[in-house]
Amino acid sequence: MTPYAEMTKDEMRRAREELLAEYEKFQNMGLNLDMSRGKPCKEQLDLSMGMMDALYSGADLTCEDGTDCRNYGGLTGIREAKVLIGDMMENNPDNIIIYGNSSLNVMYDTISRAMTHGILGHKPWCKLDRVKFLCPSPGYDRHFKITEYFGIEMIPVDMTPTGPDMDTVEQLVAEDPAIKGIWCVPKYSNPQGYSYSDETVRRFARLKPAAPDFRIFWDNAYCIHHLYDTRQDHIIEILAECKRAGNPDLVYKFASTSKITFPGSGIASLAASLNNLEDIKDQLKNQTIGHDKVNQLRHVRFFKDIHGMVEHMRKHADVIRPKFEAVEEIFDRDLEGLGVGEWTKPNGGYFISFETLPGCAKEVVARAKKAGVTMTGAGATWPYGKDPKDSNIRVAPTYPSLQDLKTAAELFTLCVRIVSLEKLMEE
Ligand SMILES: Cc1ncc(COP(=O)(O)O)c(C=O)c1O
Repeated sequence: MTPYAEMTKDEMRRAREELLAEYEKFQNMGLNLDMSRGKPCKEQLDLSMGMMDALYSGADLTCEDGTDCRNYGGLTGIREAKVLIGDMMENNPDNIIIYGNSSLNVMYDTISRAMTHGILGHKPWCKLDRVKFLCPSPGYDRHFKITEYFGIEMIPVDMTPTGPDMDTVEQLVAEDPAIKGIWCVPKYSNPQGYSYSDETVRRFARLKPAAPDFRIFWDNAYCIHHLYDTRQDHIIEILAECKRAGNPDLVYKFASTSKITFPGSGIASLAASLNNLEDIKDQLKNQTIGHDKVNQLRHVRFFKDIHGMVEHMRKHADVIRPKFEAVEEIFDRDLEGLGVGEWTKPNGGYFISFETLPGCAKEVVARAKKAGVTMTGAGATWPYGKDPKDSNIRVAPTYPSLQDLKTAAELFTLCVRIVSLEKLMEE
């Protein structure tokens, strides 16, 4: 296909008219499709229905250590849940706290506690003139919303296929004591599906922050969310690497079973050094008597162990892999060679990231919306919702049916082509 940029103005005009005729057909279809949020589809949720039978009125809800899960207690979670989630996170159960139903909530809490009470005896962040966070971008919109909510100044750092631009990260954290943290989705990142290289993880563990209370917020939300049996990404375990590097307290790790069992009814967890855990428990004991142990037990009885979880994730992959592949095929078929965008082809996670020509993302999303397809808002993947190049769009293929997804992807590529032609014709 001829790259659009090499066409004459006349050729561009003709191509645009043809595409607009196609677009009109989509408009007449009265579509109402949603590719905006990374939610599991019904078939995926159905996979976990067996968990509802794991406990019943006649079941013994006693843990291995004798804890009655029906009663108060167990601030940091039941042991067998720590073992299961520890295997999932590749951490020792002793380094884990099991929380409630959302890891995002744990991240919010972690920032909130640093604001009001400080980290390991350091000054609370709210008493400082300025607090800053590094935000590898494009990134996860809800991370950015948390830091924005607390008035923390967000500094975008470029994302690359091997992780954040580490030269910039190292330099900034070393020279500015106001920088207190960095958001990371190290495996199958949201939205690109990138996984950090060994070198990136090693450099993270060896950061020399000017702020003694700087922390890496390592959100390993997609740690076992592979799409393939053979093409899988693996990353170095950061907590152990920090210990090896002599920086044991540098990182907070987060995870949950939201996209393994039920979003909103899973179990969330935090892994950290024993020092950090003590600090956290000092607050946690004032916040709750304990989280939902019945749900923890239900998860353990359902999966039994990490092997059960891994098998379960293969079933998820069987449901969503064809969706990712369908989107990739349509993008390849409709856009390859036109020079109007680039997109990622992840081995796992929940998203595909699309880069339009500069200045086109908002218009593409608006055009798709006018024809009945909702995408994640352009800009959402950047701090403050401001994409400096107006070029990133997050594509979430898991929720719609395969047929709806194909229709939505076709409309999307059509919008990309129309908007790109219009942009090039302007120039
Ligand atoms: C990177 C990342 N972290 C966290 C979450 C939400 O996790 P939870 O449901 O445990 O709050 C999501 C959901 O999309 C996510 O993409």
